[in-house]
Amino acid sequence: MASEVQGVVALAKGEPVSLVTIVVPDPGPGEAVVAVQACGVCHTDLHYREGGINDEFPFLLGHEAAGVVEAVGPDVTSVSPGDFVVLNWRAVCGQCRSCRRGRPWYCFDTFNATQKMTLTDGTPLSPALGIGAFAEKTLVAAGQCTKVDPAARPEAVGLLGCGVMAGLGSAMLTGEVGLGDSVAVFGCGGVGCAAIAGAVLAGAATVIAVDLDPGKLELAQEFGATHTVDASTEDVVEAVKALTGGNGADVCIEAVGNPQVMEQAFYARDLAGTLVQVGVPTPEMRIDLPMIEFFGRGGRLKPSWYGDCLPSRDFPLLVDLYLQGRLDLDRFVTETIALADVEEAFHRMERGEVLRSVVVL
Ligand SMILES: NC(=O)c1ccc[n+]([C@@H]2O[C@H](COP(=O)([O-])OP(=O)(O)OC[C@H]3O[C@@H](n4cnc5c(N)ncnc54)[C@H](O)[C@@H]3O)[C@@H](O)[C@H]2O)c1
Ligand SMILES: [Zn+2]
Ligand SMILES: [Zn+2]
Repeated sequence: MASEVQGVVALAKGEPVSLVTIVVPDPGPGEAVVAVQACGVCHTDLHYREGGINDEFPFLLGHEAAGVVEAVGPDVTSVSPGDFVVLNWRAVCGQCRSCRRGRPWYCFDTFNATQKMTLTDGTPLSPALGIGAFAEKTLVAAGQCTKVDPAARPEAVGLLGCGVMAGLGSAMLTGEVGLGDSVAVFGCGGVGCAAIAGAVLAGAATVIAVDLDPGKLELAQEFGATHTVDASTEDVVEAVKALTGGNGADVCIEAVGNPQVMEQAFYARDLAGTLVQVGVPTPEMRIDLPMIEFFGRGGRLKPSWYGDCLPSRDFPLLVDLYLQGRLDLDRFVTETIALADVEEAFHRMERGEVLRSVVVL
């Protein structure tokens, strides 16, 4: 029997979100229904509401979630009812050309549930990033569920489902930060602070946080930044160089999604250093770099999709590090809120007041 539950839906472009009754079908082949326990509020949810992703309204928002599997489709063996899971938005296919070459974290054919959740009048919902977890229950592909240690707090580990994983992975996986490296992170929101935490875990010796907001720079230090640069008053490139023996950082991570910041990160790198792009640009953004600078500096420019993570490999490991007290995921949770408070949380996010507001069910 399909369930009727409450969910946060963006009905029309730019309109405040509504808490409405939605219909969640029973899981079919390859699918699972998850009782959501916690779901973080991410900028991407707001982008959906503003029509910035596509026009497939109505959207069921929410995608940084943890919960308990309630039911699985007939052929599902990877998870069972009762499992505590973190949801991911890149369920890898195992069969595309990238998966077959042994690079499943780049999977070119990730997938979601086949059936649609709907409004009570039958209108199909588009779940944000194929998840839709601002709801008491959601229907996903079983491959979007990664089983982790149930001792973990859902509101903390659910954040691995998007921004925090993207940030950690941008340093640890895409940037391949290693022991003794110098790292500069540009933009210290949830993603940038996670990049800082990832750089620290990976053994970076110097971790420079760059932001316009003094409050964010303070938070960055709590996550282990060794130095801060106030981009509203300082010459960012010169400041990063001054903190790295005049050379620039081994790894620079752009975590804003801004062309000017991308250029700063490019020039703040040491020779043969790595520039990681984790901030998501809009289609009209351009960068203009002299080719000779690109060549002459050497190194690597790497976009980071979801931190180049492999959820099945990385979520359980990171949850274990969290439970051992070596990765402070609790610090990302600025506040816990109810489903009815998502609209207000968007405003707090826009004002830069939170790393993450997390809906707790
Ligand atoms: N690559 C991925 O898979 C992935 C996943 C999730 C999020 N993201 C992207 O990561 C980016 C950051 O997300 P977030 O949740 O941390 O956002 P956020 O808004 O919380 O943080 C952005 C930070 O950048 C700072 N900032 C703005 N302009 C700046 C400037 N000119 N110089 C320095 N700092 C500046 C802000 O003060 C803020 O602290 C977004 O673009 C988001 O879409 C990417
Ligand atoms: Zn694949
Ligand atoms: Zn997100």
